[in-house]
Amino acid sequence: MKVLVIGNGGREHALCWKISQSSMVEKIYCAPGNGGTANIAENINIQIEEIDELLKFALNNKIDLTIVGPEAPLVMGIVDKFQRVGLKIFGPNKECAQLEGSKEFSKKFMDKHGIPTAKYKSFTNFQEAVKAIEAFSYPLVIKADGLCAGKGVIICNNKYEAQKTLDEILNQNIFGNQGNKVVIEEFLKGVEASLLCFVTNGKIIPMESAKDYKKIFDKDLGPNTGGVGCFSPSPLFTPELKKIIQDNILDKISMGLKKERLNFKGILFIGFMVVAGKPKVLEFNVRFGDPETQVLIPRLNTDIITLFLKTIDGTLESSDFKWSNKSCVTTILTSKGYPGEFVKGHQIKGIDKLDNNLILFHNGTIYRNEKLLTNGGRVMSVTSLGETLEQARNHIYENIDRINFEGICYRKDIAKI
Ligand code: AMP
Ligand code: GLY
Repeated sequence: MKVLVIGNGGREHALCWKISQSSMVEKIYCAPGNGGTANIAENINIQIEEIDELLKFALNNKIDLTIVGPEAPLVMGIVDKFQRVGLKIFGPNKECAQLEGSKEFSKKFMDKHGIPTAKYKSFTNFQEAVKAIEAFSYPLVIKADGLCAGKGVIICNNKYEAQKTLDEILNQNIFGNQGNKVVIEEFLKGVEASLLCFVTNGKIIPMESAKDYKKIFDKDLGPNTGGVGCFSPSPLFTPELKKIIQDNILDKISMGLKKERLNFKGILFIGFMVVAGKPKVLEFNVRFGDPETQVLIPRLNTDIITLFLKTIDGTLESSDFKWSNKSCVTTILTSKGYPGEFVKGHQIKGIDKLDNNLILFHNGTIYRNEKLLTNGGRVMSVTSLGETLEQARNHIYENIDRINFEGICYRKDIAKI
């Protein structure tokens, strides 16, 4: 089989790594890929939003299966385009991808089907939105409706901040068309958690649990990032919580998909806030998470190609998944300045000095003139599978200082619980 993976992060490197272990696969392409995928796949210089180019490439190269990493091409409708010409592709169609592509769509879906979530109202008109905030208490949350590269959620502590945010989104269009509408939402205080599920035919099959670290600095200080560390399994997911999630959330999503005839096939990533033991949904993503994928995939003892194909043909069952009892931890090396401005192009040294059984997924790296260079804010996911969480964690921190590049940063408290 020839497989095409779309994307260029740690998530896509982890997917390529797992796909390369399948006996069904003879060749992997990654568009555009990174320095890590270059070692196991052929990187193709097509960007993730160049859907017509990706389609042409898949047709010309007789690709048997395409896996979409990031949300943007899914929301743009890449799956529909590939399916129209008979190409197999893993991910939800454009209609279903609105669960991530439009906050209003996903909130309406939750409301309609009794899925617990924060109270909300949506607006396109600035004056009406300003009037409506009178009914909310602080802090309150304002979300641009569309995709904003993780920057579209603003927590406002007072009326002044809320009015300013509404003005920036609805009048000054800081998010362009993605901010034509806003969702104003009650602030939920609790512990955040997420669960990634395979979905097909109205069936929702959760993967193992994972906990990610969003803040850039130790002790959860500093600004939010895309995620700078993660581990699996997460002790937060007790049998009691899993049962509540199954009954109050997964079963209801499943019913909702069926009622609305949403033919969702792919990954549904559910972000929760657990408030006094009760999970409420914060958001849906319609793709694998980064860095969640880096800690879930090494624990998966099933051929991932089988899972993709069964999702596409609708026959996937929970018995198709075999999970390792081991613990997996990943710590992400970042460029100084991330998630703000940072410099790319520093040479990365020392990866040949790592223990053989350490798993290194690349996020933002590139090979130039046979040198490996930094090429993003998140640079590499240093990953270890251990008998215990502590063993995996120690293994990472014993190895991590062997890697070196100018401005290297990482959290020292990942999986320290
Ligand atoms: P979202 O993209 O909707 O998940 O929002 C990004 C982040 O904003 C979440 O991971 C939470 O940390 C925070 N957030 C979103 N909605 C709320 C809410 N209603 N209450 C508290 N925090 C929230
Ligand atoms: N780790 C969060 C995400 O992938 O959106």
